[in-house]
Amino acid sequence: MQSCRPQMAGPQISTSCALWKLSGTKFILCVLVMSILAFTVQSEEHTVAAGDCPFHGKHYKTEFRVEGEPVVLRCPQVWSQFGTSTSPQALLTWRKNNSAQTVPGEGPRMWAEDGALWVLPALREDSGTYICTVRNASHCDEMSVELRVFENTEASLPFISYSQILTLSASGVLVCPDLREFTRNRTDVRTRWYKGSVLLDQDNGKFLSVEGTTHLLIHDVSVEDAGYYKCSITLAHEGRHYNITRNIKLRVSQRKKETIPVIISPLQTISASLGSPLTIPCKVFLGAGTPMTTLLWWTANSTQIDSAYPGGRVTEGPQQ
Ligand SMILES: *[C@@H]1O[C@H](CO)[C@@H](O)[C@H](O)[C@H]1NC(C)=O
Ligand SMILES: *[C@@H]1O[C@H](CO)[C@@H](O)[C@H](O)[C@H]1NC(C)=O
Ligand SMILES: *[C@@H]1O[C@H](CO)[C@@H](O)[C@H](O)[C@H]1NC(C)=O
Ligand SMILES: *[C@@H]1O[C@H](CO)[C@@H](O)[C@H](O)[C@H]1NC(C)=O
Repeated sequence: MQSCRPQMAGPQISTSCALWKLSGTKFILCVLVMSILAFTVQSEEHTVAAGDCPFHGKHYKTEFRVEGEPVVLRCPQVWSQFGTSTSPQALLTWRKNNSAQTVPGEGPRMWAEDGALWVLPALREDSGTYICTVRNASHCDEMSVELRVFENTEASLPFISYSQILTLSASGVLVCPDLREFTRNRTDVRTRWYKGSVLLDQDNGKFLSVEGTTHLLIHDVSVEDAGYYKCSITLAHEGRHYNITRNIKLRVSQRKKETIPVIISPLQTISASLGSPLTIPCKVFLGAGTPMTTLLWWTANSTQIDSAYPGGRVTEGPQQ
């Protein structure tokens, strides 16, 4: 059971998820994995003495954000209960590591709500490690999440951009990531997309900002489509409007070359003597393919061998 706990798995999660960040799809996988881990923590029974609160490590994902924008830090332990509020008996508190700053502090800029810490707007001095403590009568645990707030300039782009990859000559979709906290329970979300600083025209046949989603459809991806994109939605809070932007670095990859396997033998009718065993090798040229990615099978009268000869008189041999 110990090995399932985030504190043990922590370093591994950080490494693998740095790689995950390379692609949008894989990134989603990672979030799913983490939800399961968080759930494991939730379901573990612990009896803790008052005041004893074990630290379960740092959340795998660091939040890289820009100053002036709303930021939401989700308490890692309640990640799996996203959208539902924590159990009423549980007390959830935040504090910032190595800082006298109480969280949420005085003033309206930070508040805790439904297992998350809202910062609106974020300042560069908000950067740091935030520790979330969840405690009830019988259970307590702590996890931390790191926030880094960057200046809103072009020089910050390499640090704050999400990496996404599309395939050359096909249509592809960019996803404006990590907006869930701002888009749930909303039907009026409109995503503005920019390539560099140019607003992408909705009606041009190349790009389509898919209505009601945070997706950008790109037709017939070309090498020139690579580069930095920006997507942005608006949040209204207490009469003020805030933009929430995400930056994406799009890489365009070549379609993988696939070669079609070619059967070398048998190509002719095979003679056999009645009553003797017969082995017929099937030789195939795989080209750039590998045995791992190639499926090879025999049929008799268009039927698979084990169905055509259920008694096993004729069988397929192993691949070599
Ligand atoms: C305290 O929290 C733990 C973990 O979420 C849960 O299993 C337990 O039932 C809770 N206890 C009480 C008294 O609410
Ligand atoms: C808090 O800061 C101390 C001193 O820099 C460090 O040793 C510790 O690991 C930090 N805790 C977390 C949760 O990051
Ligand atoms: C949000 O972005 C829009 C479009 O770029 C801009 O006109 C507006 O001034 C921005 N609002 C804020 C609060 O930065
Ligand atoms: C394949 O079809 C031929 C002609 O219909 C038949 O004689 C033969 O028994 C069939 N073989 C198998 C394995 O079904």
